[in-house]
Amino acid sequence: MIKVSAPGKLMLFGEHAVVYNRPCLVAAVSQRLFVEVEKNSENKILLDAPQMKVSDFAVSLTDLDKEQPKEVRFVLEAVKNFFRKYNIESGLKIKTESQFSAEYGFGSSSAVTVCTIKALSEIFEVKMAEKEIFDLSYKTVLDIQGVGSGFDIAAAIYGGVIYFLTGGKRIEPLEIKNIPLIVGYTGVKASTSEIVKAVKVEMEKDSEYYEKAYDDILQIVEKAKTAMGNSSWPEVGRLMTENQGILRKFKAPSVEYGVSSEIIEKLIEVCQRAGAFGAKLSGAGVGDCIIALGENRGEIEKAIKEAGGTPVSVNVDYQGLKIENNL
Ligand code: PMV
Repeated sequence: MIKVSAPGKLMLFGEHAVVYNRPCLVAAVSQRLFVEVEKNSENKILLDAPQMKVSDFAVSLTDLDKEQPKEVRFVLEAVKNFFRKYNIESGLKIKTESQFSAEYGFGSSSAVTVCTIKALSEIFEVKMAEKEIFDLSYKTVLDIQGVGSGFDIAAAIYGGVIYFLTGGKRIEPLEIKNIPLIVGYTGVKASTSEIVKAVKVEMEKDSEYYEKAYDDILQIVEKAKTAMGNSSWPEVGRLMTENQGILRKFKAPSVEYGVSSEIIEKLIEVCQRAGAFGAKLSGAGVGDCIIALGENRGEIEKAIKEAGGTPVSVNVDYQGLKIENNL
């Protein structure tokens, strides 16, 4: 039996723009997802995923090509892609377990994909470099979602803080420590792929506006990279608020506020009033989490709670993909 783990992630700067070839900054977080895999002699994949309310799920190897329930889709697509690429076939017993809720937008789908591929490479003794794990995981996520930059996959594999370009064209781990990061969950689960597609529709209507906005975000990402390197947290906070100012104007049809939302704006405002250096949405928007920077964590978290959000206590995790045990 092999057990591997990978961290969740939070987008710090550059969401949406990263889909259109601008860089972003992403941090891996100190809540992890675990995947255990062992071979079995039946020609089936057996799956338990307690957090997804999946127990004793079974699918025969011949049915792997069929459409699978969404709770198990990433694991099974990862298995299928791995088997195809390396010409392997075997029954498996798989168990996934997460320290974070799939609702937070911490990237459980990408973490489970990365862990599954790593576990399979160990069990079947296939040597895979980190970039090969990235490429096969990215293909798996694209097969299912059709869109995405892969920043979440990079965070799960490499850990820490990363300067990232879409598709892994650049994956640069940064030496940044002790970020005074505060996280608040909005209570709203957002669908990243739907929001990305909705923004694309808007972009097609007014590409000049969006291209300019993405270039402005690029400038913010570059400044934030330098400011974070210097631990200039008030400046990093100011840049978060500036990044939010651009995202706030992004429209997403069918969503009243666009990629930002009433609850996102409210949580950001109370963080600022409680003394945060700055705050912004993190990820696609509409819901999931907001992030803030500040040295008075207690007061800011209290303000998030009073405004109807849930503070989520996380730090940056410098450990990426990891083998927990190999028995
Ligand atoms: O919603 P999240 O946390 O998965 O972040 C999405 C970030 C986007 O830039 C909007 C999409 C992407 O894949 O980069």
